[in-house]
Amino acid sequence: MNQTTNPYMPYPVRIDRITSENEARDLKTFKVVFLDPEHTKAFHHIPGQFAELSLLGKGESPIGIASSPTEEGHLLFTVKKTGVVTGELHNLTEGKVIGVRGPLGKSYPIDRMKGKNVVIVGGGFAFTTLRALTKYMIDDGNRDDFGEITVIYGARSPGELLYKEELKEWEARDDLKTYITVDKGDGNWKGREGFVPTVLEEVAPSSKDALIAVCGPPIMIKFTLPVIKKLGFAPSDTILSLEMRMKCGIGKCGRCNIGSKYVCKDGPVFTLEELDVLPNEY
Ligand SMILES: Cc1cc2nc3c(=O)[nH]c(=O)nc-3n(C[C@H](O)[C@H](O)[C@H](O)COP(=O)(O)OP(=O)(O)OC[C@H]3O[C@@H](n4cnc5c(N)ncnc54)[C@H](O)[C@@H]3O)c2cc1C
Ligand code: FES
Repeated sequence: MNQTTNPYMPYPVRIDRITSENEARDLKTFKVVFLDPEHTKAFHHIPGQFAELSLLGKGESPIGIASSPTEEGHLLFTVKKTGVVTGELHNLTEGKVIGVRGPLGKSYPIDRMKGKNVVIVGGGFAFTTLRALTKYMIDDGNRDDFGEITVIYGARSPGELLYKEELKEWEARDDLKTYITVDKGDGNWKGREGFVPTVLEEVAPSSKDALIAVCGPPIMIKFTLPVIKKLGFAPSDTILSLEMRMKCGIGKCGRCNIGSKYVCKDGPVFTLEELDVLPNEY
C-alpha cells in the first residue's frame, strides 16, 4: 500500500543529517532520504507545500518543506521543539527512520511569479518554505524565468537566523538582493538592526510587475501588511502562508477551517484577496 491508495500512509524516510540552527538548540533542520527509491520518484512537491512528519506511537505534525524540488534526492524540514511530536523528533539521532506523508496543501503560485519581480519577506523560523521558494527561483535552470528577486529576512537575534551559511552566499550573489536584519544585534553582529516591516519600508521594492510572498509570526504580519499596501501591492499579488492547528492535512477532519476554507487543502498559501473575505481567525 502507498499514498496513492491510502492518503494516510506515510513514506518511511531515514534521517541523513541533523543541523542545529540556533543557540537555544530548539530549531533543527532534518535532512531526510526516502528508503525506497520509488518513493523519491513519487514525491513531487512545489515550494510552499508541507508534509506530515510522523513518529510511531507519538503522532504527526505538519511541517513546511524547507527544500526546493531542485535539491534532488532528499527533503529538508526545519523543526522547532514545541511539544510531543517535535520534542521526540529533536531527541532522534541520524540514521533513525520516521514517516513523511505528503506533499500536502497549495504551493506558492510559481507560474504567476514567472516573468515578474518577486519580493520575499520572512520572519523567524517561519522562513522555511520561503527558503524553498528562493532556492527554487535562484537555481541555474530557473533563474531566467523570474525578474528581480528581493529577500528580506529577519530574526530576533543573530543566533536565531536560520540557514546562516546560506544567507552569506545569497548576500554575495549579484542576481539576488538580500537584506538580513535582526531586532537586536550582539557584540559580533555587524549587520542590519531593525524590524522586518521597517526594513521593507526602507528597501521599498517596487510593486510594479511584482508579487510579494510573506511568512512570519502574526505580529510581523500585522505590521508588514500596511507597509505592503503602502508600497502598492494589490491584495491579489500579496501571498501569505498560514499555520493553523491540523490533523488529517487533506481536508477531511474539519480541524483547520477558517470560514469555508480548509487551511490544509485550500492553503496554507493564500492571497490576501482570498483572506480578506474570510473571518479574521488566522
Ligand atoms: C502548514 C504548517 C506548516 C508548519 N511548518 C512548520 C515548520 O516548518 N517548522 C515548525 O517547527 N513548525 C511548523 N508548523 C507548526 C507545527 O506543526 C507545530 O509546532 C507542531 O505540530 C507541534 O506538534 P507537537 O506534537 O510537538 O506539539 P503539541 O504537543 O501538539 O503542542 C505543543 C504546543 O504547541 C502548540 N501547537 C501545536 N500545533 C500547533 C500549530 N500548528 N500551530 C501553533 N501552535 C501549535 C500547542 O497549542 C501547544 O501549546 C507548521 C504548521 C502548519 C499547519
Ligand atoms: S487538517 Fe483535517 S481538514 Fe484540515
